[in-house]
Amino acid sequence: MTQKKGIVIPCLTCAFVLMFLVFQTDVNKFEFFKVFDYQIKNITKRNSTKNTSLFFKGNSIPVQSKKVRNESTTKIFLKQAKFSFTTKGKNEPTTRSFLKQTKLNFPTKGRTNSTTKGMTHFITKEMTISTTKGLIISTMTPAISAVRNNSNNNTHYLCPSFLGGFGNTMFQLATHFGVAMSKGMRVIVANNSELNRVFRLEDIDVRNNIDICKTFISRGEKQSCAYDKNLVNFNNSQNIRLGQYLQSWKYFYNFRSQLKKQFTFRDVLLQEAKSKIVETVTRFNIGSRRDVTLVGVHVRRGDMVNNSFGYDVATPEYLTKAVQYYKSKYKNIIFIIASQDIPWTKANMPNNTNVEYLTSPKREIIVVTLSLCNHTITTVGSFGWWIGWLTGGEVTYFKWPAKEGSALRKQYSKDYSDFYYPGWIGM
Ligand SMILES: *[C@@H]1O[C@H](CO)[C@@H](O)[C@H](O)[C@H]1NC(C)=O
Ligand SMILES: *[C@@H]1O[C@H](CO)[C@@H](O)[C@H](O)[C@H]1NC(C)=O
Ligand SMILES: *[C@@H]1O[C@H](CO)[C@@H](O)[C@H](O)[C@H]1NC(C)=O
Ligand SMILES: *[C@@H]1O[C@H](CO)[C@@H](O)[C@H](O)[C@H]1NC(C)=O
Ligand SMILES: *[C@@H]1O[C@H](CO)[C@@H](O)[C@H](O)[C@H]1NC(C)=O
Ligand SMILES: *[C@@H]1O[C@H](CO)[C@@H](O)[C@H](O)[C@H]1NC(C)=O
Ligand SMILES: *[C@@H]1O[C@H](CO)[C@@H](O)[C@H](O)[C@H]1NC(C)=O
Ligand SMILES: *[C@@H]1O[C@H](CO)[C@@H](O)[C@H](O)[C@H]1NC(C)=O
Ligand SMILES: *[C@@H]1O[C@H](CO)[C@@H](O)[C@H](O)[C@H]1NC(C)=O
Ligand SMILES: *[C@@H]1O[C@H](CO)[C@@H](O)[C@H](O)[C@H]1NC(C)=O
Ligand SMILES: *[C@@H]1O[C@H](CO)[C@@H](O)[C@H](O)[C@H]1NC(C)=O
Ligand SMILES: *[C@@H]1O[C@H](CO)[C@@H](O)[C@H](O)[C@H]1NC(C)=O
Repeated sequence: MTQKKGIVIPCLTCAFVLMFLVFQTDVNKFEFFKVFDYQIKNITKRNSTKNTSLFFKGNSIPVQSKKVRNESTTKIFLKQAKFSFTTKGKNEPTTRSFLKQTKLNFPTKGRTNSTTKGMTHFITKEMTISTTKGLIISTMTPAISAVRNNSNNNTHYLCPSFLGGFGNTMFQLATHFGVAMSKGMRVIVANNSELNRVFRLEDIDVRNNIDICKTFISRGEKQSCAYDKNLVNFNNSQNIRLGQYLQSWKYFYNFRSQLKKQFTFRDVLLQEAKSKIVETVTRFNIGSRRDVTLVGVHVRRGDMVNNSFGYDVATPEYLTKAVQYYKSKYKNIIFIIASQDIPWTKANMPNNTNVEYLTSPKREIIVVTLSLCNHTITTVGSFGWWIGWLTGGEVTYFKWPAKEGSALRKQYSKDYSDFYYPGWIGM
């Protein structure tokens, strides 16, 4: 894809200045936590460590926090979350619970409670916490700067160029949609595109003829599985197509509820998938749909096995761990499984549980059926990614989708966080 730079306008998001912090020193040494939509100010160099536990929705997440050199107190301002923090200082564990708008100081060293030069944390929106490798405290940098502005009725357009599989095209459309929403533009999609056959695409301009897109200016991404802020830094008084894979949730996160509306399944597919679900639940006879927890499982293999580009596929150990994760949390579970490689999957999925294999040859039926489940086990690849996103429950993923040092690995950010959605569980 050719890269023509659009007119560069001053960074609109600068007004928001959310800092994105990665403390690189201890990466890979400990299990740390990740907080999104978390704004951190006045961080100075840190060089002493201490242990902290973070409790979120009843789960304890071990944290190795590092003390700011000159700062003995961390101030926390929270919104929208019930939250509990325990610090284990030299002398005592201190637990504080707080609700939204609560302000808290917690001592980072024993009983010391000095507030001088306190590090200040602001949680500005919702927060999601997940364990991850590496000490990472991050803010969700808004991919896009503003809400749709109807009063200028900008008539400029974005056109995705679809390439790759179903999941790839979903990323391409989602990113174009998110960027369009932020800039008051519209997205054009061809009537005969697969996504239009599967989804209702409520607010998208679906046309029988999209020749006009050929005249649009192309802008290319730096990495295919990471957020590129320069990509979206263009003047909205021109027609644009963004290339190529655009696989980062950061491009559309701010407009996720509107995006969900675009990805409403067409009724005919929904009916077929629903009857499949009813049939499965009935066969297992372990309760009504309301009482049963369905976990959709997508095992991606195929051309990703032994691939020289650097793809890696999930291991049997991953499947066992992921199944165990759900079994320990929910009862009356049925795992509904789809894979291009059923023989391998049958041989490697844990056997001591309720499993149902989906054998529909139609990939859209697989997407719809698995999306009607409560939770998702993905492995690798964008197809499973979207099943997890559409399902909207808990999502586990295989943590090593790319071989270290491979060409593919370079397409991701260092910690994969631009790719994996906030709150998803890597294992
Ligand atoms: C950050 O530090 C600067 C300079 O020390 C100070 O003026 C400012 O108030 C601090 N901001 C916060 C949020 O603590
Ligand atoms: C922190 O770093 C400074 C400068 O690098 C050093 O002088 C100091 O001893 C360190 N403190 C600890 C507790 O390691
Ligand atoms: C902190 O955690 C590390 C790793 O779990 C452990 O080795 C260390 O003893 C802990 N330190 C304290 C003071 O509890
Ligand atoms: C931190 O403390 C050291 C030693 O007391 C001092 O030299 C340094 O200026 C302080 N740094 C900050 C940012 O206040
Ligand atoms: C530390 O600060 C908190 C909150 O301001 C306060 O309630 C507490 O009494 C202080 N603890 C000490 C030992 O000063
Ligand atoms: C812009 O378009 C919207 C939706 O079509 C319409 O409701 C609105 O009145 C228009 N605004 C102007 C200023 O024309
Ligand atoms: C929306 O666009 C109009 C016309 O370009 C402009 O005057 C107005 O300030 C914009 N509103 C926002 C919230 O950006
Ligand atoms: C798409 O094309 C089909 C057949 O050409 C036509 O029946 C249908 O109305 C078109 N849909 C839209 C949204 O243009
Ligand atoms: C965007 O481009 C239009 C048309 O070329 C121009 O009038 C406008 O000033 C530009 N906006 C910015 C913010 O550069
Ligand atoms: C699973 O999802 C279905 C359909 O959304 C819902 O009715 C059911 O209560 C959910 N099951 C559990 C255990 O949450
Ligand atoms: C992949 O490579 C391994 C080891 O080189 C080999 O045992 C295996 O059969 C290969 N699998 C496929 C699907 O080619
Ligand atoms: C599940 O059972 C099949 C058939 O009995 C067996 O071949 C397979 O190895 C088993 N898989 C696991 C993970 O135990």
